[in-house]
Amino acid sequence: MQSITLSAPWRKLLLTVHVVATVSVLGTDLVLLALGLSSLGGADPRTIYPAAHLVGARLVAPLAVLALGTGLLLGVLTPWGLFRYWWVTIKLAITAVLTGVVLFVLVPRLGAAADAVTGPAPRLLTSAERLPFVIAPAVASTLLLLTVVLAIFKPGWRLRFRRRGQAASLRTQPDETPWSHDPQLNTIVQWVLANRTPKANGALPPPFSPSDAPEIIGTAVAFHYINRMVSVFLGDTLLPVPSALSGRRTTPPGGRKGRRAAFLRSPR
Ligand code: HEM
Repeated sequence: MQSITLSAPWRKLLLTVHVVATVSVLGTDLVLLALGLSSLGGADPRTIYPAAHLVGARLVAPLAVLALGTGLLLGVLTPWGLFRYWWVTIKLAITAVLTGVVLFVLVPRLGAAADAVTGPAPRLLTSAERLPFVIAPAVASTLLLLTVVLAIFKPGWRLRFRRRGQAASLRTQPDETPWSHDPQLNTIVQWVLANRTPKANGALPPPFSPSDAPEIIGTAVAFHYINRMVSVFLGDTLLPVPSALSGRRTTPPGGRKGRRAAFLRSPR
């Protein structure tokens, strides 16, 4: 089945929302860390915990859901996939766990702490009770930094994953191609096909890391050059079969001069 891929403008729009959401999660998480540290340093808990609960519930939680949602869409709707590259899968795991912790642990606990310090019978929180509100945002911001680094460096490690029954279904596909058995090569071919005109304007992102680019682009350019040479200087066959035997013309209309003119005219 052909997967759906986004056009260049939609991908850029989705990527913009994704980057804004994810970087905002990191920023708001650092605010929680600053509040937690102030509380440990003796700041008034009646100021700290209601503010931290507000930031957690109104900013961190919805932004984390948006980061996860846009990340999932980017994975599914671009050739990156969700389980094709380790960096995407690791980001998915980190973000899913962090979002769950924010929604079901951090925000309720911050709410309880805010109620405890501002309720009808206010009480001070012990250091042991305050410490988790420093540790949690510190761990989260470290993991979020790791996801930013993974997203920017996009290490080329790939997951070799084949769905059950995929091999059998590929074998029976009528439009089977030499590359359809190799998911990695297939992704590169789809990228080439989507970007082969200047109008495509990067419709699909390269499905390989920057360190793989010289090898892949170099191979493509070398083969393109060889193909061009072969099609200009040779006829329909690589063997010098006399035209009388092959039953075909080996010299194109226009003869050798015509070939040379075609070669000079063709874009290089
Ligand atoms: C809060 C955690 C996350 C952070 C901080 C984050 C950060 C980023 C950043 C900064 C980029 C832009 C990189 C670039 O264009 O060079 C990016 C792209 C991307 N992210 Fe995330 N991300 C997060 C979560 C996720 C999740 C959960 C997924 C999917 C499961 C995901 C999938 C992707 C994909 C596929 C791209 C590349 C999109 C493209 O180039 O077309 N991200 N992310």
